[in-house]
Amino acid sequence: MPHPLEQLGDEALREIDSAPDEQALEAARIKYLGKSGSISAWGEQMKTLSKEGKPIVGKLLNEVRTAITAALEARAQTFHAQKETEGLAKIDISLPGTPREVGAIHPLTQMWDRSIEIFRRMGFALADGPDIENEWHCFDALNTPPEHPARNEQDTFYLADGRLLRTHTSTVQIRTMQAAPPPIRVISPGAAYRRDELDATHSPQFHQIEGLYVDENVSVADLKGTLEFFMRELFGADTAVQFRPHFFPFTEPSLEVYVKSKALKSGERWIEVAGSGVVHPAVFEQVNKARGDKAYDPEKWSGYAFGLGMDRLAMILFDIPDIRLFAQNDLRFLRQFA
Ligand code: PHE
Repeated sequence: MPHPLEQLGDEALREIDSAPDEQALEAARIKYLGKSGSISAWGEQMKTLSKEGKPIVGKLLNEVRTAITAALEARAQTFHAQKETEGLAKIDISLPGTPREVGAIHPLTQMWDRSIEIFRRMGFALADGPDIENEWHCFDALNTPPEHPARNEQDTFYLADGRLLRTHTSTVQIRTMQAAPPPIRVISPGAAYRRDELDATHSPQFHQIEGLYVDENVSVADLKGTLEFFMRELFGADTAVQFRPHFFPFTEPSLEVYVKSKALKSGERWIEVAGSGVVHPAVFEQVNKARGDKAYDPEKWSGYAFGLGMDRLAMILFDIPDIRLFAQNDLRFLRQFA
């Protein structure tokens, strides 16, 4: 005859192993191991046993309790594993995933990235300045007198307080020289604003890269070498670069830069892409006055500057027919640059 405790243990194990779900399993746990469960009741009963009976029943009770605990644990594990497999089975791996839109870098930004990379290789550092400027940085410091047409309200966006949206990035030349003595070798990419009618080739907001190089004995030859190298890196080795005499108040001599290349859709046509020149001594004098020193002594230092039209360069390089496309946010246009 097995001991009643053994019978109880067998019964418990059978019930646990055949528990159909977690609720049934929990019910079994309470039934046997709970505070008023039957195994616990045996613990109480121990107290009434004889000295000789106690260790035998005590040992048996421990064995049965351990076996039941292990069985409960094992059954719980089974349920847990089952749940996981069921969860996985519910995932339909044949369903297509959530599609993600692939973005593209805006062609103007691409143009900027490429240009900056080329100038970096020539040792140019990046400089920055604000889009909202005062007249002094935009005009006076750049040797542009009050009667100059660019200062007209028909040409420039003025704010009520007399400040303006910069008409070119040449303002950064002045800010850079105010901040540090020569030598200087910087480029400054940014937006510029003019009261132009919006059409296929004009926009009231456009983009430039300004360049400024100040050192001893800098000449037009350095300017030409730098810009020729830049254009050939950008448009290909057989790009022809032409410099035509021009006028800017802040450079003397002043040169407009034209390119043409058989590799481009524009083909045999010369296209104007930049203004440039040798920094006018009057600009250095204005900077000295603002600095309160003679750091930019025109007898000792000379420099060249240029302003590249980013929109124009991107239009040539990517064969974009209309400047308005840059700002219209038309995905059919932008996707072509992915
Ligand atoms: N600031 C001139 C423009 O916007 C370009 C330029 C820059 C010319 C530097 C000479 C030197 O047209």
